[in-house]
Amino acid sequence: MAGLASMGCHAWRGRCSNHEDNSGWCLGNRMKDKNIIVGVTGGIAAYKSVELVRLILRAGAFSVKVAMTRNAARFVSPLTFRAVSGNRVIGDMWDPATEPMDHIDWAQGSDLIIIAPATANFIGKMAHGLADDFLSTLVLASTAKILVCPSMNTKMLENPSVQANLDTLRERGFTVMDPDEGELACRTEGPGRLPDPEKIVEEARTVLSEKDLSGLNVLVTAGATMEPIDPVRYITNRSSGKMGYALARVARRRGATVTLVSGPGAITPPDDVDFVRVMTSEEMREVVLEKAGRADVVIKAAAVLDYKPRKKEEYKIKKEKGSLRLELVRTPDILAELGDKKGEHGYLLVGFAAETQELVENAKDKLERKNLDMIVANDVSRSDAGFETDTNRVKILHREGHIEDLPLMTKEEVAEQVLDRIRGLWGERS
Ligand code: PMT
Repeated sequence: MAGLASMGCHAWRGRCSNHEDNSGWCLGNRMKDKNIIVGVTGGIAAYKSVELVRLILRAGAFSVKVAMTRNAARFVSPLTFRAVSGNRVIGDMWDPATEPMDHIDWAQGSDLIIIAPATANFIGKMAHGLADDFLSTLVLASTAKILVCPSMNTKMLENPSVQANLDTLRERGFTVMDPDEGELACRTEGPGRLPDPEKIVEEARTVLSEKDLSGLNVLVTAGATMEPIDPVRYITNRSSGKMGYALARVARRRGATVTLVSGPGAITPPDDVDFVRVMTSEEMREVVLEKAGRADVVIKAAAVLDYKPRKKEEYKIKKEKGSLRLELVRTPDILAELGDKKGEHGYLLVGFAAETQELVENAKDKLERKNLDMIVANDVSRSDAGFETDTNRVKILHREGHIEDLPLMTKEEVAEQVLDRIRGLWGERS
């Protein structure tokens, strides 16, 4: 049985002094109220940092300030960053508009510094404690977390001195993102591309998250299953996978080892999760039962089809006059099977209930019948909850009878809430 890291947010019963918003619910947004500095150094990828600043603000940060090196300003104008961030941009220490103690004020007032793009030269300066401009001085003066996003030509990246400098930064507690592979500005291919801004924001959220689920193996299912009728047709349902992927992302940010088993869909799986794509309910069953043996927690957010065509036709069914009868048979109930095996494996079992009527009664019935520890019930007839939406409104039913009615939240915020409660249950168990 895995142990958990020390308690951070105590919100699993709902209220939290660390992450309180106006409603009194801890929404666990790790970006909210954070002061973030984006340090831009002189690489062609500097243009991507404009979007990065915009996305950080959209993610709920309190403020984003941009500090640029002199060479960065040759690629993108400080005015662009000023317009996007809404804040003064500092490049030159000796600019008359810069206050003498700006580097200290900015350093001490920030929660996270993201260096993107980080050139070989600037990485070298950070590794060796050099402070010959505003940004390098700021980095030295700061005790904030630092996320370094290298971007350069592959040969430069692979150069032993650059690698040694990156190792030095890692040893000192900096987080270094692996650059993406692909076409580079110097018309070569290989590792060295600045990751997309969305990926950097996700990494920033991870850096800012407490690792209060580290040590836990969490298995999440997401999306719809799909059952073929013939080679060109299938039946499925409206699940997009957003709820399940949000659970996987948030669990990973909080330090859990995550396995995500997903039906077909368009969402990019988070990095660093064991990801398995399946199509049919039977495929999902096989993978989930195999993986569940190593899981501490199983969360079944997938919308598994309850029925499938009795048989898949070998050839496309030809159109004929009149109607077509399709015989459907039951699919395996994976959650019920997991409930039966719970005693043997010892995992915590959390289900979801998608209902259009009698939400609580139906969810309670599933909680008991499938031997769950907790069930998250959503009314999928609402336009702002359930399938496909970015938001959800859920009730959480606990095994001992307690029911919580959560307000409308984003799916990531629902995921934070569900994981807070799982953390509480696991803590009580250990
Ligand atoms: O993916 P999104 O677009 O973000 O939508 C999210 C969601 C609405 C799909 C999600 O919030 C949700 O409610 N998931 C469960 C959907 C569902 O199948 O509910 P159900 O009430 O039919 O099933 C109850 C539970 O049994 C679920 O945990 C389900 O995974 C499981 N089940 C159901 C049938 C089956 N054959 N095997 C199962 O394991």
